[in-house]
Amino acid sequence: MAKVKKIFACSECGATSPKWLGKCPSCEQWNTYQEEIIFKETPQEEARSAFKSTKQGPLDGPRPVLLPEIQAGDITRLVAPDQELNRVLGGGIVPGSLVLIGGQPGIGKSTLLLQVTLQLNKKVLYVSGEESEEQIKMRADRLAHKNQSCYILTETNVSKITAFAEELQPDLVIIDSIQTLQSPFIESTPGSISQVRECAGDLMRFAKTSNIPVFIIGHITKDGSIAGPKLLEHIVDAVLQFEGDQHYTYRILRTLKNRFGSTDELGIYEMQANGLREVSNPSELLLSQRDEDLSGNAVAATIEGMRPMLIETQALVTKAVYGTPQRSATGFDLRRLSMLLAVLEKRGGLPYGMQDVFLNIAGGIRVDDPAMDLAVVSALLSSLQDVAVPSHVCFAAEVGLSGEIRAVNRIEQRIQEAERLGFKEIYFSKYNLKGLDQKRFGIKLHPIAKVEELYQALFV
Ligand code: TYD
Ligand code: MG
Repeated sequence: MAKVKKIFACSECGATSPKWLGKCPSCEQWNTYQEEIIFKETPQEEARSAFKSTKQGPLDGPRPVLLPEIQAGDITRLVAPDQELNRVLGGGIVPGSLVLIGGQPGIGKSTLLLQVTLQLNKKVLYVSGEESEEQIKMRADRLAHKNQSCYILTETNVSKITAFAEELQPDLVIIDSIQTLQSPFIESTPGSISQVRECAGDLMRFAKTSNIPVFIIGHITKDGSIAGPKLLEHIVDAVLQFEGDQHYTYRILRTLKNRFGSTDELGIYEMQANGLREVSNPSELLLSQRDEDLSGNAVAATIEGMRPMLIETQALVTKAVYGTPQRSATGFDLRRLSMLLAVLEKRGGLPYGMQDVFLNIAGGIRVDDPAMDLAVVSALLSSLQDVAVPSHVCFAAEVGLSGEIRAVNRIEQRIQEAERLGFKEIYFSKYNLKGLDQKRFGIKLHPIAKVEELYQALFV
């Protein structure tokens, strides 16, 4: 007899409980528990005895195989005209892969995938549960590329979608978005955990059996995780995150998970009136807006993903008018900024405690590279002293709690990029000198060990 079981599950992390809870004990979010109905067709005991009674039962299906005997099939990836996308996927789209693209609303996920659709000269099925055919047509008209074999389907029923896809046999399927899909076999509303899980499972099955790659768009919540359970991230083969500041035009496509390549890759785009443009040389764009030396500016030689990139940091340090000084940072971790200020105050005796401090990373790009520290410190010192850092100088080092300048990875690549972009001097940690062939570079190297040395060299 079919048995109906009810549980409650957290829509954020997927934790379950037999009772409704106001606050999830696992991820500590409020009001995220939703009722889920699980159909149990055969009770476990019955299933077990049925399994045992068939003699062949456990030995059906795949058997253990010796590893050397397995033939590795050649995967021929579908190489997209979009080089940035190929880069983050590890060299192209793998047949039969399920790729999740997450990002905040309005960041350009639909634009990116529609553009990929239009650029590819292949049969593509673009499924949208969010926009009407006319809206998609209007968007496609704005984009520069045209693809004659692009099919649009506005449908949210996942069974119909996979049925149409099977009939059409496209080279790529795009789903916008997973949160709008629903499986007819499940009661809950679209976007709930069981729906998201079920639909993703159906799409995975479709991708694996048909060997057609499927891209799905997923919205992310304000704290940056993909809405719906973490589970979705486990199901799919690759998770890409599309991010950037809505007020700036740069967008970054990061790999968070990739079963077919490295997660160190990063794609950069610029949002323009006719779609997203690939940015193959980010440093030149990020540095183009400087003609004269201004105090408070310093350039960091960072590495994002596998690519060296020179990024400008800007600081403004002014006397605090109100009791509590303000600290604000865009594109940089606020706690890290407070830490660097504390180091300067304690080690250098500088009066940041009475100053408002604003820090901005050019282009609205969020950078996680610790090598940003030295440029941030230089920008802070430069603004406080009102002494400009010469525009031909750049920085690459981490700053420790006692004001020591720490080594960073891949210093050679950073120095090369700085030199290539015409910088004349670079400050970095003396601990990076080991194994560094100094004669190779035409740029002047300044290995330093303490923040004091930087201060003496540039601001006195
Ligand atoms: P969209 O792809 O709809 O975002 P998402 O699917 O992530 O919610 O992108 C929305 C923004 O992109 C919108 O604010 C307008 C802008 N945009 C352009 O600047 N140029 C373009 O060619 C297109 C199509 C959109
Ligand atoms: Mg969209």
